[in-house]
Amino acid sequence: MDQTSATNRRDFLKTSTIAAVGAAATQLTLQSAVYASGDDTVKVGLVGCGGRGTGAASQALSTQGNVKLVGVADAFEDSAKNSLKNLKSSLGEKADRVAVKDENIFTGFDAYQKLIDSGIDLVILATPPGFRPIHFEYAVKAGKNIFMEKPVAVDAPGVRQVLEANKIAKEKKLKVGVGLQRHHQAGYLETISRLKDGAIGDILALRVYWNGGGVWDPRITRAQAKSEMEYQMRNWYYYNWLCGDHICEQHIHNLDVGNWLKGGPPVRANGMGGRQVRVDKKYGEIYDHHYVEYEFADGTYMYSQCRHIPNCWNSVSESASGSKGTVDISGYKIKPVGGEEWSFGRGGRRAGGDPYQVEHDDLFAAIRSGAEYNEADNGAMSTMTSILGRMATYSGKVITMEDALASNISLMPKTFAWDADPPVMPKEDGSYPIATPGVTKVV
Ligand SMILES: NC(=O)c1ccc[n+]([C@@H]2O[C@H](COP(=O)([O-])OP(=O)(O)OC[C@H]3O[C@@H](n4cnc5c(N)ncnc54)[C@H](O)[C@@H]3O)[C@@H](O)[C@H]2O)c1
Repeated sequence: MDQTSATNRRDFLKTSTIAAVGAAATQLTLQSAVYASGDDTVKVGLVGCGGRGTGAASQALSTQGNVKLVGVADAFEDSAKNSLKNLKSSLGEKADRVAVKDENIFTGFDAYQKLIDSGIDLVILATPPGFRPIHFEYAVKAGKNIFMEKPVAVDAPGVRQVLEANKIAKEKKLKVGVGLQRHHQAGYLETISRLKDGAIGDILALRVYWNGGGVWDPRITRAQAKSEMEYQMRNWYYYNWLCGDHICEQHIHNLDVGNWLKGGPPVRANGMGGRQVRVDKKYGEIYDHHYVEYEFADGTYMYSQCRHIPNCWNSVSESASGSKGTVDISGYKIKPVGGEEWSFGRGGRRAGGDPYQVEHDDLFAAIRSGAEYNEADNGAMSTMTSILGRMATYSGKVITMEDALASNISLMPKTFAWDADPPVMPKEDGSYPIATPGVTKVV
């Protein structure tokens, strides 16, 4: 046993003993929720075995102390099996941490329930975001610690479901991490901390961008899919009930940094967007560009752009102007007016460790120590900020956060089955209805 696990085991025994004599009944609940197996091994289950889920599992298995992946769940069997293969080959000498028996590989729409009920301590939720509220609520009710990827929903009812479930998670003292890894990136942490200490005075305006060429092309054709449901599930990026559009799926990272600096989400937004280049019917229903002006309660604005069009100006960044200077937040550079420029500059983006790894190190440290750890409310409100932006661009109207969050328009299907109709079906020519500003209803 290495030093870390020896220490963890001592801590575990110590807290269990205290609990056993009744001095800290809540601690007992906490510890028994953490270690289902009764020793200090954290048993991990993965729901959504694609690129990010496999990465997150690898990071979870690279944390300190005893940890094992004991089950996986995916809508598709091929994804689940490929993920396990990739994990074993990428983990090298830690490959024995992948300890998934055949009977703990679950597939289909209810796979997440079977996995969560299989005796795990922590679940990684990394499916397309449409499913996140359902999976999160189920995991919370089952008393599991959770790492969930961003975004945490695609519509307002989903965000509310996460916020409600998180009240229970906090009561149960579950540890919840959300994949907004900039919060675990040393350069961001130090830059934002200096800004909050007044390095450029009051923040007057922010600019946030995720402008790039786009993501993966549809993975299968309609003819290759057995049903419309399978077609959309495989090509989830292009359907709002699964993805929320790229303003939600990607640009959330930059909007979240703006919210972080401002200390909360904006109160209002207006915007414009559309599909200008990525117009083929195989690209489903999402836009290829959005421009949004977000207004905060104090009257400051966050100007936001996200674009999926090749051969244009690309930028994934955040910056701001203040009453006493400017900051390139993502470049970690602060320029006070008349003062000396400050730059984080020690090792660039990866200084302080890979944030994808650090977010797991931090979560697991909290699980082992019992410290409070819950990122879900922030994840939910940053998700809601991106949904508010989409509502503004799809409708062409000014939308308040209050109205947006209260919206009862659900994008999700009523039935999850391979032969059920998804909520958006193709027209006769195979194309999908596209949101039209001035016409589309969003709240
Ligand atoms: N934090 C980051 O920087 C970051 C980076 C990439 C992706 N992500 C997020 O991770 C999530 C997954 O993205 P990805 O790139 O891994 O996608 P992916 O397509 O590679 O993987 C998604 C997996 O989920 C499975 N799945 C779909 N519906 C399911 C269901 N109902 N139950 C179980 N499994 C289901 C799919 O079959 C697939 O294997 C998204 O929310 C994405 O935004 C975050």
